[in-house]
Amino acid sequence: MIGKGDFRHYMLKEIYEQPAVVGDTLRTMIDPAARAIMLPSLPFDFADIPRATIIACGTAFYAGMVAKYWFETVARLPVEIDVASEFRYREAPMPAGGLAIFVSQSGETADTLAALRYARSQGQRILSIVNVPDSSIARESDAVIQTLAGPEIGVASTKAFTTQLTVLACLAVAAARARGAIDAGREAELSTALTEVPSRLADVLNHDETIRTLSHEVALARDVLYLGRGLSYPLALEGALKLKEISYIHAEGYAAGEMKHGPIALIDDKVPVIVLAPRDSVFDKTVSNVQEVMARGGKVIFFSDREGIERLGPGPVAAIDLPSVDPFVAPILYAVPVQLLAYHTAVVRGTDVDQPRNLAKSVTVE
Ligand code: F6R
Repeated sequence: MIGKGDFRHYMLKEIYEQPAVVGDTLRTMIDPAARAIMLPSLPFDFADIPRATIIACGTAFYAGMVAKYWFETVARLPVEIDVASEFRYREAPMPAGGLAIFVSQSGETADTLAALRYARSQGQRILSIVNVPDSSIARESDAVIQTLAGPEIGVASTKAFTTQLTVLACLAVAAARARGAIDAGREAELSTALTEVPSRLADVLNHDETIRTLSHEVALARDVLYLGRGLSYPLALEGALKLKEISYIHAEGYAAGEMKHGPIALIDDKVPVIVLAPRDSVFDKTVSNVQEVMARGGKVIFFSDREGIERLGPGPVAAIDLPSVDPFVAPILYAVPVQLLAYHTAVVRGTDVDQPRNLAKSVTVE
């Protein structure tokens, strides 16, 4: 797990480990034969939780944002979410009997740990999702679920993110069952969709070469936009973060429906626009936002499945055909192409991919 093997960078190796580590993480939370979620025993009941608060930083925060959509839509559990550096100082009131969930690869991020201590002072039950089980955040939690990503050496988080999503997806299904928001049939469907994720991730990795080719174009850009709606909105934010931190190209993630409220003014034929569009309940809305971007000359790179690409029709400079899956699991799959695009763009630009300037793997100071 520690060496680079045949890979040029740790980041690329860690991207390629995702089918295996997501599979390892799933095995601790799903009974594939029963097609049901099997959580470790938790010191609270999701049925009694009035509201959950999710706190994290950076990429772990974006995993939490995806989880907000999952918990609210599937489990009908209201969720508040904030970055730890804001949350810790804003003296937020927290509901009696509430659950606070902290997501952290290292388990040592100073702001996340301080936010945890604040949540405890407000009488919240504390659940953490960490990759390092003997970390400070794990030690101070009432319950811990470990992501089995293995050591993540590249500064840019990749496999920690997809394993965090995996744990959060399983938790959302468990919460939905406990709250009576889904029946056994839907739980079986969602569990099956999750069980198939590792092999679908391997399918996504087959697009590596196409994405590498596209990265030559992206590497020339001064600004890049990432668009998504619903579950894909946090993925757009994560894609932009990945590109910024390792290629040093300015990138912004936007909710696609928000474009017309300002950012569409940025569009011209020099701005690559990366669109994450799994075929979900907001797909048609995303398509109409993309049409508006293309009508203004934006160079759209469109990620969807085959039918989604057909439904968009002509206009994008590239369209990458990802597997058709239950939209519930799409964020785990769509994370990978944005990682690969950032990685290859950084390699073209000649940056230090595994150790980008000004960044530390674990931010243990404020
Ligand atoms: C981005 C990245 C950071 C971390 C953030 C939180 O690629 O790695 O944004 O996600 O610093 O770190 P952890 O998860 O260790 O709390």
